[in-house]
Amino acid sequence: MEIQVSSCEHLMYVSEIQQEMYDSAQRRGTGIAKRSVEYLSRKISEGNAVVATENGEWVGFCYIETWSHGQFVANSGLIVSPKFRERGAATLIKNKVFQLSRNKYPTAKVFGLTTGLAVMKINSDLGYKPVIYSELTQDEEFWNGCRNCVNYEILMKKERKNCLCTAMLFVPDNNKVNGVVSIQPENQYQNEQESNLSI
Ligand SMILES: CC(C)(COP(=O)(O)OP(=O)(O)OC[C@H]1O[C@@H](n2cnc3c(N)ncnc32)[C@H](O)[C@@H]1OP(=O)(O)O)[C@@H](O)C(=O)NCCC(=O)NCCS
Repeated sequence: MEIQVSSCEHLMYVSEIQQEMYDSAQRRGTGIAKRSVEYLSRKISEGNAVVATENGEWVGFCYIETWSHGQFVANSGLIVSPKFRERGAATLIKNKVFQLSRNKYPTAKVFGLTTGLAVMKINSDLGYKPVIYSELTQDEEFWNGCRNCVNYEILMKKERKNCLCTAMLFVPDNNKVNGVVSIQPENQYQNEQESNLSI
């Protein structure tokens, strides 16, 4: 199985991806933020998505969205083709799209809303924690995406404080770069002073 950052060569899969997103939501009886072929195509051609394939066949997909002027990133629209499910594809795709998000937006908080156990498991393994909705982006455009969801009325009744989805958030440690503590020049100077003192 190949897991790649998207490029124009993956545009051939866009209708299949969009159709499967719709069909899966229908089967689960949930709504999703409906994305047009144009929107998904832009994500793919701009390299803001991850596509999994096997022998030229489409396997799975996920894309990056930014909110609150880049303070928040969501890895959205995760979908695996039914015949490739429960083989670890979603785990590999989410890992790749998470790394891509961290590289592109190292200081952004990464979040997701889900009702799915599989996604909750994958997110916890990546270091996401469950949170209340007020911890997420308050960008109106993001919440407008919930309008197509069958549970939108519940969200509104609860004044957008909670709903049936579990919110999960990864908060980067901005003192670390790729997991390693980064010493800022001023801290480095302070560290040198401290280590001189201790000699
Ligand atoms: C949810 C989905 C993306 C999972 O894809 P997948 O490739 O089958 O997932 P993986 O094989 O990587 O499994 C990841 C973990 O979830 C578990 N899992 C997979 N499907 C599951 C399910 N339906 N119910 C409960 N757990 C599930 C796996 O056992 C695995 O757990 P483990 O790491 O403890 O072994 C896929 O079923 C799908 O596309 N569903 C429809 C769309 C959807 O629900 N998207 C998520 C929107 S938030």
